[in-house]
Amino acid sequence: MTLLDVLQEKLTGKNVKIVLPEGEDDRVLEAATQIQGTDYVSPILLGNESNIKALASEKGLEISSLEIIDPETSELKQELVTAFVERRKGKATEEQAQEMLKDVNYFGTMLVYTGKAEGLVSGAAHSTGDTVRPALQIIKTKPGVSKTSGIFFMIKDDQQYIFGDCAINPTLEAQDLAEIAVESAKSAKSFGMSPRVAMLSFSTKGSAKSDDVEKVATAVNLAQEKIEADQLEDVVVDGEFQFDAAIVPEVAKKKAPDAKIQGDANVFVFPSLEAGNIGYKIAQRLGGFDAVGPVLQGLNSPVNDLSRGCSKEDVYNLSIITAAQSLQ
Ligand SMILES: CC(C)(COP(=O)(O)OP(=O)(O)OC[C@H]1O[C@@H](n2cnc3c(N)ncnc32)[C@H](O)[C@@H]1OP(=O)(O)O)[C@@H](O)C(=O)NCCC(=O)NCCS
Repeated sequence: MTLLDVLQEKLTGKNVKIVLPEGEDDRVLEAATQIQGTDYVSPILLGNESNIKALASEKGLEISSLEIIDPETSELKQELVTAFVERRKGKATEEQAQEMLKDVNYFGTMLVYTGKAEGLVSGAAHSTGDTVRPALQIIKTKPGVSKTSGIFFMIKDDQQYIFGDCAINPTLEAQDLAEIAVESAKSAKSFGMSPRVAMLSFSTKGSAKSDDVEKVATAVNLAQEKIEADQLEDVVVDGEFQFDAAIVPEVAKKKAPDAKIQGDANVFVFPSLEAGNIGYKIAQRLGGFDAVGPVLQGLNSPVNDLSRGCSKEDVYNLSIITAAQSLQ
């Protein structure tokens, strides 16, 4: 069974409410129509109703049972503005909030924050920053998590790996890398994997010396302490590893014979956003892996970001993943 099959099975009958703020995008509208025909997710589309109807008739889509909210005219607007001003605690006036909630991502994120929806998927027509900033400001991270991060599920035939952080944090300290390792392990568990987390570098177990290597080695120790403190007995974290030592048993035997991971890692924590973002795209474009994500971890409610080059299948798949996250 694929990851998606497993999640769809979990979601049967749940009709999880997921906001799709980009209702006027044809890929989003097509995915919403497809998903409306399941009992996994009930999509809420944001946008101008006449524009959405015109697009649907152009595409031959039946949308009569889809829920559509127009942020410009919605009767929910004032309630969401008031809740936003309260949540931002002095960082936005009522007037600023009125203006900000014209943005579909802010409006949609407020629907999630106020419990009118369980998750949000956007980014088909917005940058990552514009998609996730409202979530960082409003939904915020769970207790014990200081930074959200973005993982990709890298899938090819029966191989499934997690890569992180590939999406969010331009700068990372050892403490952040440790947190990403633990959160990625938890995500792996919640999606049915047994996490074996490799923290990556250009050095394997001290083979090279530099401040960057030292940072990853420190992060390994911090992550191991966190795992012990959180009693995550079934999680293994080790490093620092070069990628080959983390994935090829023969190389691990030579470069890191005493490591807990012997070429059998399935979760990879990259030392920087540059490495993570480049790394997942290489696996995708040269390695032929499907890259599903980025799936954001560590938030109080799930919000996920599409790529602007996404297909309608990507919108469908990420909606399923987001709905599954909301059940955790
Ligand atoms: C994530 C990102 C959008 C943050 O945006 P930003 O406007 O620079 O963020 P700011 O520093 O102004 O912070 C805005 C709020 O988000 C919070 N925040 C920022 N980064 C955060 C993180 N990683 N986790 C949790 N909260 C975060 C801040 O604490 C702040 O909260 P506050 O307003 O309540 O005090 C930005 O770091 C970014 O663009 N990252 C790269 C994204 C990208 O292009 N990825 C590659 C493509 S997938």
